[in-house]
Amino acid sequence: MRRIDRETVQKILDTADIVDVVSDFVSLKRRGANYIGLCPFHNERTPSFSVSKSKGICKCFSCGKGGSPVNFLMELEQMSYHDALRYLAKKYHIEIKEHEMTDAEREAVTERESMLAVSEFALQHFEHNLNNTDDGRDIGLSYFHERGINDAAIKKFRLGYSLEKRDDLASTAKAKGYNEKYLVDSGLCIQNEQGKIYDRFKGRVMYPILSVSGKVLGFGGRTLRKDKEVAKYVNSPESVIYRKSYELYGLYQAKQAIVKKDKCILVEGYMDVISMSQSGIENVVASSGTSLTEGQIRLIHRFTENVTVIYDSDPAGIKASLRGIDMLLAEGMNIKVVLLPEGDDPDSFAQNHSTSEIEDYLAAHEQDFIAFKTAILLKDAENDPHQRSNAIKDIVRSISVIPDEIVRSEYIKECSRRLRADEQMLTRSVAQKIAERIEKEAQQRQRQVAVQSLGDLGQTTTDFQSTQQEESEPIVVEQQSSAIEDSYDNRYSAFFKPFEREVLRYVLKYGMVEMCESCDESGNTAPLTVMDYVWSELNEDDIHFTNRNYSIAYNAAFEAISSYKDDLQREIAKLTEKRSQLMTNGIAEIQRTATNLTDINAKEQALTQQCDEAYFKDLNHFKTMYVVRELISSPDDVVRRVTTELISEKYVLSKVHTKYAKIETEQDKLNELVPRAIYEWKDAILENQMRDIRQKIKEAGNNAEELTALMSRQMELKQLKSEFAKFLGERIVAPRK
Ligand code: UTP
Ligand code: MN
Repeated sequence: MRRIDRETVQKILDTADIVDVVSDFVSLKRRGANYIGLCPFHNERTPSFSVSKSKGICKCFSCGKGGSPVNFLMELEQMSYHDALRYLAKKYHIEIKEHEMTDAEREAVTERESMLAVSEFALQHFEHNLNNTDDGRDIGLSYFHERGINDAAIKKFRLGYSLEKRDDLASTAKAKGYNEKYLVDSGLCIQNEQGKIYDRFKGRVMYPILSVSGKVLGFGGRTLRKDKEVAKYVNSPESVIYRKSYELYGLYQAKQAIVKKDKCILVEGYMDVISMSQSGIENVVASSGTSLTEGQIRLIHRFTENVTVIYDSDPAGIKASLRGIDMLLAEGMNIKVVLLPEGDDPDSFAQNHSTSEIEDYLAAHEQDFIAFKTAILLKDAENDPHQRSNAIKDIVRSISVIPDEIVRSEYIKECSRRLRADEQMLTRSVAQKIAERIEKEAQQRQRQVAVQSLGDLGQTTTDFQSTQQEESEPIVVEQQSSAIEDSYDNRYSAFFKPFEREVLRYVLKYGMVEMCESCDESGNTAPLTVMDYVWSELNEDDIHFTNRNYSIAYNAAFEAISSYKDDLQREIAKLTEKRSQLMTNGIAEIQRTATNLTDINAKEQALTQQCDEAYFKDLNHFKTMYVVRELISSPDDVVRRVTTELISEKYVLSKVHTKYAKIETEQDKLNELVPRAIYEWKDAILENQMRDIRQKIKEAGNNAEELTALMSRQMELKQLKSEFAKFLGERIVAPRK
């Protein structure tokens, strides 16, 4: 993949006009300051899709989808980040400059591209074998037909056949000028000790594995022999282009259907995907026999939150896969499970039923995952207290990874009924599990902090795992990784959410706006931005965002301003130039039209004032938009989503108001509003601590020493709280909203 240099990216983002971009897909009508139309992401009769030209974003107020031009394209057309940029560049005739790459980078890019090229060649070769050679037709094609796969599906999934020869692919590819190195690197060929290369896949039907954007990354090859001597499947090895834990079989063909149905069906094998798809259930993908990885889950999450896992009724298989599902829960996804009739797998079921029969079956047999897991585990444990307690522990763990507190408590209620276990006990166990994870995660963070140079804002981002698909390392599915993931959502997250949200909103929306002056010890003042202020307030009291996505967005905001100083200088230079241009033109005009000296003076004064106003207005706009502009087009899904959500306001001031008076805007009152938001959050934290203490006091019973300590702490907190109340009370004239 080529890199688009930062400047070009910025140019594209600056040029892209949201109204213009959306209009290519949605017919828009002007309404007040905004445009409005029917949402392209869901079916609706009355328009709730709103586009704000000035903010550069669109958003559906019914389904919540939308964002910057880039985000809009990514979601609607299922493009990658880079493809969306390319699309926009093409639309606006912006030439994409590849940034100057280092030798190492160039080599890596060439290597990748060469491997992709040779893989595409191999794919076409296998397709050719299947359709145009005697062996291919007699063995491969007739096998697919025997299994009920029709030609349309063969074409759609680009199925093929590798001939039963030592070096059929190797020699054909070499004759065409493909380099041996890339044949070996991509795993298509194997090099022996003498340095000769031969084919990895021989006499097998070939299932190509495509990336989300349709590039061939690797293959699975199935033997047609019945004997147990040979492996049933031979798969491409992990390589620079094929990172297994980041790919899902069938996603390329399924993605549109997944978005349309807002659901992804998960099965096990290649054949399951193909048969289902051929039968009209197109939103199906397979993890290819391995347990799900976090990378794969993120991949699904890009398209939907709803996952239905189809199991055939093999109990061992089901138990083995339960663990992977916990990770889906931890991602906050809604998981359903469907159990097929005894003896069927998705492939055979799809082959033997019509589309509507399959749809009906799925709809009728979909069960909630936790309920399903509970039932499975209990079935074995009915009369064995030891197993029963293990089952309960297992389910408690599943529930504890769910980020949403309300969902968790619903599950606890239901499981208490099913497990015939005390609800309070379950609640405590879940809370304890969460606490353990927080503890583990805190230790981890401390370790990280120790090796970080403090004060370097740019580095605070290493605190959390990057969610960026293309850059991050594969994370293998283990308890460990999910522990890091969800522990940002601690059990108080839901309680803190509105407070964290409000503070974050100010940071994102007004980050670089100067809200007041700061004063150092010797009395020097300097302007303080909203970000500076929030950062120092939070730092001082060691306050962190407990909601994971907010934490990610907050850190991203700081990352986004790393080149602010340079950009600001550039902007100031640009605006100064513009101003002097305006002045020059204005003065020329005055000299042409003025009648006497007094007139000239007066007109020049007015001109200067006018130019200054324009200058400051533009500069202010630049500062206001700086953080937002970077974040709403961030390659990170979470960052984009959170930013879009927080900066899009549902209500626009009505014309009537703006006509008569300059209303005080939020921006005019930042010096009151931001501190207030911070203190409200701090107040909530205090509130939470007090609740904790009250609980502890209750539990302390007659332990006098402990009681005294607790009560004096309680006094302290009360004192603080009343000071806060004074502060909050004084500053507030009228409640907002
Ligand atoms: P299955 O054995 O269920 O295979 O393994 P299948 O795809 O349904 O094949 P048919 O129906 O026998 O033709 C499920 C998945 O596990 C992976 C493959 O991705 C397969 O699709 N697998 C299985 C391997 O990678 N290697 C193996 O040896 C077996
Ligand atoms: Mn099968």
